[in-house]
Amino acid sequence: MALIAVIFSICIAFLDTGWATKPTTYHSICKLKKRTADCNGRRLSSVLEDLPAGIEELFLDANVIQTLSNASFIQYQVLQNLSLCANGLELIEPGAFLGIRNLSLLTLANNFLSLSYSVTAAALWTLTSLRRLDLSGNQLTELMMGSLIQHLSSLESLSIARNAIMRLDDSHFRNLPKLQYLDLQQNYIFEIEVGAFESMPVLQQLNLAYNYIPCIVQFDLAQLRVLNVSNNHIEWFLSAENDASFELETLDLSYNQLLFFPLLPKLNKLQTLLLTHNHINFYGKFFNNSKSSVQLLFLDGNITNITNQELWEENSHGNLSSLTFLDMSWNEFSYLPDHFFEGLISLVYLNISHNCLKTLNIEDREMLNTLMDLDLSHNLLSELQMNLDSGGSLTNLRKFNLSTNSLHGLPPQFFIYVTKITTIDISKNPIQICFPHNATSPNCVTFNYANSLRNLVLSGCDLSMLHCHFFKGTSLTYLDLSNNPRLLISGLGTLKDITSSIQVLYLRNTGLSAAGTKVDFSAFQKLISLDLSGNSLVYFPESLIDLKLYTLDLRMNFFHTLPQYFMERQLGKSLHVIYLSENPYDCCKMGWWDTLHSHGTIHIGDMSDITCNYSSRFISATDIPESVHHDCRWLTANMTLLYLVLILPTCLTLLFTFVIIFLIFRQNILQMLKSRHRKPSSY
Ligand SMILES: *[C@@H]1O[C@H](CO)[C@@H](O)[C@H](O)[C@H]1NC(C)=O
Ligand SMILES: *[C@@H]1O[C@H](CO)[C@@H](O)[C@H](O)[C@H]1NC(C)=O
Ligand SMILES: *[C@@H]1O[C@H](CO)[C@@H](O)[C@H](O)[C@H]1NC(C)=O
Ligand SMILES: *[C@@H]1O[C@H](CO)[C@@H](O)[C@H](O)[C@H]1NC(C)=O
Ligand SMILES: *[C@@H]1O[C@H](CO)[C@@H](O)[C@H](O)[C@H]1NC(C)=O
Ligand SMILES: *[C@@H]1O[C@H](CO)[C@@H](O)[C@H](O)[C@H]1NC(C)=O
Ligand SMILES: *[C@@H]1O[C@H](CO)[C@@H](O)[C@H](O)[C@H]1NC(C)=O
Ligand SMILES: *[C@@H]1O[C@H](CO)[C@@H](O)[C@H](O)[C@H]1NC(C)=O
Ligand SMILES: *[C@@H]1O[C@H](CO)[C@@H](O)[C@H](O)[C@H]1NC(C)=O
Ligand SMILES: *[C@@H]1O[C@H](CO)[C@@H](O)[C@H](O)[C@H]1NC(C)=O
Ligand SMILES: *[C@@H]1O[C@H](CO)[C@@H](O)[C@H](O)[C@H]1NC(C)=O
Ligand SMILES: *[C@@H]1O[C@H](CO)[C@@H](O)[C@H](O)[C@H]1NC(C)=O
Repeated sequence: MALIAVIFSICIAFLDTGWATKPTTYHSICKLKKRTADCNGRRLSSVLEDLPAGIEELFLDANVIQTLSNASFIQYQVLQNLSLCANGLELIEPGAFLGIRNLSLLTLANNFLSLSYSVTAAALWTLTSLRRLDLSGNQLTELMMGSLIQHLSSLESLSIARNAIMRLDDSHFRNLPKLQYLDLQQNYIFEIEVGAFESMPVLQQLNLAYNYIPCIVQFDLAQLRVLNVSNNHIEWFLSAENDASFELETLDLSYNQLLFFPLLPKLNKLQTLLLTHNHINFYGKFFNNSKSSVQLLFLDGNITNITNQELWEENSHGNLSSLTFLDMSWNEFSYLPDHFFEGLISLVYLNISHNCLKTLNIEDREMLNTLMDLDLSHNLLSELQMNLDSGGSLTNLRKFNLSTNSLHGLPPQFFIYVTKITTIDISKNPIQICFPHNATSPNCVTFNYANSLRNLVLSGCDLSMLHCHFFKGTSLTYLDLSNNPRLLISGLGTLKDITSSIQVLYLRNTGLSAAGTKVDFSAFQKLISLDLSGNSLVYFPESLIDLKLYTLDLRMNFFHTLPQYFMERQLGKSLHVIYLSENPYDCCKMGWWDTLHSHGTIHIGDMSDITCNYSSRFISATDIPESVHHDCRWLTANMTLLYLVLILPTCLTLLFTFVIIFLIFRQNILQMLKSRHRKPSSY
């Protein structure tokens, strides 16, 4: 009785701290939490009337409310956020929001508001303090859109994404003095007339991604901070040539058809410029920097305007002094103009991968010395013209990717001047190794002064045996030497100087074999990840047993079996992932597999691909037939019996033959023996 009383008073206390109006924290259909009611996916066809009157946020997504009738929310006067996505909503009656004093966020995505848009528009007009509206996915045309939003002068954020907008002019966005964020992505926009965004004086972010815009000329939205026009068909991006100060910070022009570097506003605050996946190149070199201009024909209504544009002029790309992030990957750059890097005094990240650069020139003083990440992978670079000792270039570089080029080496004494570098990828280059007498050649690589280097990728460089102090002076933690099939033919000697620091080591297809010197990993005490795949190992390197490996890759070798005690000792310890397939394991020596498989602690990355060899037949290790098990058992356990069975008949036959022979020739033999032992008679 006392207990019930306690519970009762707790309930009262709990309810009292709830909402002042109605002490309900439980509802039979919706989830109530604080001032939010979640009625998503409840097959409701109208707005419930018995929710607490004090709710401020109401979710009605994924129901079947086709019509919002008059006074649907009459008792929810303090509602601020309302979401009605994916309801098949066709009509909002003009008085639907009657009584709501202060709705600020309305989400109507994925409905059919195009059907009765003019009635619905009248309903929206009543929301005088609406700040955020989402109308995405409603099959709206620009006409319908214009009508729905035309009196929403309090809007700050508007999404019309995934509709059927095709063209925009100054009649479509009117009276939106507070709009800051406009999302028009995934429409069919192919034309935007001058002045279309003029009535939005504080617009900061405009997303026009995934449309059909063919070009942007006379770009003059000076107040815009973010412009996203990725995934269109843009061939030209030309800013208005004036001296206005643009607020633009982020410009995304990726996935378009640009042929020329965009003509950016002269005065801008650009920090991020994304140009990936276009066809941009510079052309001045091909025209000997002579004056070559292009005449552009602008058709604006019935007015034709012909302008001359100096497109080959290479320093017309604006003042980029605040740019920090520049992605020019996947274009057709065959060279960079002489002074291209000069104005980029804040650049931190530069990606020029997947282009056609043959050379890169950084010979001036103090170039790119804010740069931390430089990606030049997948070009045609055969040399890097860097005059680093002239002073202070690339002094902050941390990560340098040169993968897949035609480089023989790095600039001389690269690591002496670029002292903060931690990661360098020189994979897939025909690099050569420096020897003491030619160490200052630009056509070879040495890591002798690379003290800061931690991660090194040298895969696919066709390296042959390296001298044993090749890595001396580095403290590498990550090293990828894969796909250098002649590199480790005579063992692990090359790695001598990094054994105490290395943690991740890729030795895939490096010519390691049991036939060479012993493969001894016992000195690699920090190793946590090791790839030994694609080699010719027959015996499991015993020295791995005492390491604290996390990942081990043994694929594509010649292992017939693996030591069971290795598996037993690793279980439940450090080893988490192992790869084992493409080895000719003997199906009758799979004890290690059963041990490994029966414990769930190690993830076998390629479980279904592991096979074993049973009399030259390869069968999946996950389901070895019982008959094979049986045969193996019989084979091993009864081997002695087998020998006995095989040898016994032979012995018996021999004995038998011997006895027969003895019996047949008994007479002769006895006589012979007699004659031998007979004493010589004297005549
Ligand atoms: C309304 O939604 C906005 C944005 O999701 C959120 O910040 C705000 O807290 C919500 N208001 C209420 C009363 O839950
Ligand atoms: C809804 O209210 C509006 C006025 O707010 C009125 O014109 C309209 O007839 C009403 N509709 C219905 C179905 O009652
Ligand atoms: C309307 O909402 C704002 C905050 O979004 C709040 O400051 C104001 O008091 C609310 N007004 C009414 C009448 O609820
Ligand atoms: C531009 O919009 C696309 C599509 O929504 C998006 O994937 C991309 O991240 C956006 N770009 C920026 C810089 O936000
Ligand atoms: C550019 O100048 C070089 C010599 O300086 C000449 O061989 C080449 O033909 C010139 N190219 C053009 C397009 O004028
Ligand atoms: C060109 O358009 C203007 C209005 O935009 C109009 O007054 C003028 O008559 C038009 N001229 C011709 C030749 O169509
Ligand atoms: C033609 O374009 C130039 C600048 O590109 C502009 O100054 C001029 O006013 C335009 N003329 C007409 C008739 O639009
Ligand atoms: C670029 O703009 C910065 C300020 O934004 C200014 O200090 C610098 O002098 C300008 N550079 C050039 C070449 O105009
Ligand atoms: C450079 O761009 C390529 C292709 O877009 C991308 O794969 C790579 O990760 C980027 N590099 C860096 C360092 O982000
Ligand atoms: C270097 O770039 C290549 C290709 O763009 C990429 O696969 C590789 O992961 C990059 N290397 C590093 C260390 O980021
Ligand atoms: C450096 O010298 C070695 C041996 O003399 C030679 O094989 C190699 O090609 C030379 N490398 C360069 C870049 O000159
Ligand atoms: C498979 O096992 C048979 C003996 O059962 C052996 O002769 C053959 O070489 C093995 N195959 C491989 C690829 O090791």
